Amino acid sequence: MNKPVDRITLRRPDDWHVHLRDGPMLQVVAGYTARQFARAIVMPNLTPPVTTAVAAAAYAARIRAALPPDSDFQPLMTCYLTDTLEADEVERGWQQGAWVAAKLYPAHATTNSAHGVTNLDAIAPVLERMQRIGMVLAVHGEVTDPAVDVFDREAVFIERSLIPLTERYPELKIVFEHITTAEAADFVLSRPHHLGATVTAHHLAINRNAMFQGGIRPHHYCLPVAKRERHRLALVKAATSGDARFFLGTDSAPHLARDKESACGCAGLFTAASAIELYAEIFDAAGAIDKFEAFASLNGPAFYGLPVNAGTVTLERSPSAVPARIDALDNYVVPFRAGESLSWRMA
Ligand code: NCD
Ligand code: ZN
Repeated sequence: MNKPVDRITLRRPDDWHVHLRDGPMLQVVAGYTARQFARAIVMPNLTPPVTTAVAAAAYAARIRAALPPDSDFQPLMTCYLTDTLEADEVERGWQQGAWVAAKLYPAHATTNSAHGVTNLDAIAPVLERMQRIGMVLAVHGEVTDPAVDVFDREAVFIERSLIPLTERYPELKIVFEHITTAEAADFVLSRPHHLGATVTAHHLAINRNAMFQGGIRPHHYCLPVAKRERHRLALVKAATSGDARFFLGTDSAPHLARDKESACGCAGLFTAASAIELYAEIFDAAGAIDKFEAFASLNGPAFYGLPVNAGTVTLERSPSAVPARIDALDNYVVPFRAGESLSWRMA
């Protein structure tokens, strides 16, 4: 047997899907992402959502202002698609560098998605334009039909929306965000190009049992919801394969503890405090630490058509502590694996 690797150096990684929020929560969480990642694709589901180039530029400036002046962290902004957004505005924001991608939330699929798209036909001109200019479409891949079981919403989305989308716009670059099922991993692998997927650390780490371990566990509830163990195993296989279509996206989504520990708790896990260590544990356990750089630092930039980062980070097999709680506003955020020790840390 090979000696286990205890230290790896990789190109600085990026997070291709994160929620940084705004206002006081942004002040709390921005530093965690910037400590680990050179860039991040920042989700636009604020209230109100980010739908104009002006709003995206202002939000990017607020993110930079929340970080120390010597931070070189680069927020990569996204535009929130609505039924009424104009193709010209989407293209203008992209040409100006206000955003690098547009986010498709099916209306009411998840947190702050009430303004999302009700029908793909409504955004046909926008999708045509994005296909023409080579702009990435990031998709929350779940149907919202209440008749569909919550655990089936991703797989049904492939049939009802993603297949028609890829057929209608064969050259459109699509990221199937935070995939949670074997069906999603297989569908991505069935397409030769233009379809990629982000995989979160928590969907690689837990299955749906974690939500019900000895009682209801709101801090393991997110959307898309965690699935059965066989799906988790399929995600681990895909992410650790080195295949260029899979890349790192934490979907770290902070909510106050009181909003999660409630009769109608919010969806979202906060992983940004230890994201790179969480992923390193998974790749290590899968015997695939040699594939980690592709997943964390190379595949995402290649898909988005951006350069890889200059500089490197080193991870070592050495304990790192996840905070038990992180003070926020007049309450706190409970991070994923709060208070536990992880077996890797960033040197
Ligand atoms: C996200 C949030 O809280 O903004 N929640 C989540 O469970 N992932 C929204 C999302 O990405 O679905
Ligand atoms: Zn998200």
